[in-house]
Amino acid sequence: MKRLVAPSILAANLGNLQKDIEMINSSEADWIHLDIMDGVFVPNLSFGFPVVETVYRYAKKPLDVHLMIIEPERYIERFRDAGAYQLTVHEEACRHLHSTVHEIKKSGMKAGVTLNPHTPVNTLEEIITDLDLVLIMTVNPGFGGQKFIPQSYHKIRKLRQLIDSTGSQALIEVDGGVDLQNAGMLFDAGVNVLVAGTTVFESENPLKTISQLKNAGR
Ligand code: DX5
Ligand code: ZN
Repeated sequence: MKRLVAPSILAANLGNLQKDIEMINSSEADWIHLDIMDGVFVPNLSFGFPVVETVYRYAKKPLDVHLMIIEPERYIERFRDAGAYQLTVHEEACRHLHSTVHEIKKSGMKAGVTLNPHTPVNTLEEIITDLDLVLIMTVNPGFGGQKFIPQSYHKIRKLRQLIDSTGSQALIEVDGGVDLQNAGMLFDAGVNVLVAGTTVFESENPLKTISQLKNAGR
């Protein structure tokens, strides 16, 4: 099964973003994860288009943009123009999820849907074959450095079953509290993409940590 790692720059040094992006460029990471927060959908603000554009300028890896904002359909083209490879919206933030997913694909990006910890997997039953990615939040969104919610394993296995039984091509990504202890078990449960902020950027040796995440449990 495909294994990818996406360092989250929410935990990077924004005072020297270029350096951290160059570290990611030279690492075994596959994508760069960017968290966009609006202070309404989640109780925090992060960064917007200028930061996405800056990351894009230096990045040699695709930008995986996670929108934690209400009415994400208003900004699809702006994120595409800023350099997003993939745009992931929250199921809980979309009134017309089917339409938003197709707008994202029409604009030329990969389309992902995120589920908060309380949102059941079966809410995606009717749309799963249209998705490139499902992002399971393994913490409540809004902040880095939180503790992984163990109930997530059960949810990941359910999602893996839904994807495999429908022939969906969607990748499963997890976000929040991912570390060197749970990474192997997450891949075993059916995850394809690990997002990691604190684990990578607070590490003594981020390059080695990215490699360890990617090869966890092997
Ligand atoms: C949280 C964000 C995450 C965050 C993860 O709302 O979506 O991407 O950066 O941070 P860690 O890996 O520190 O839990
Ligand atoms: Zn995220």
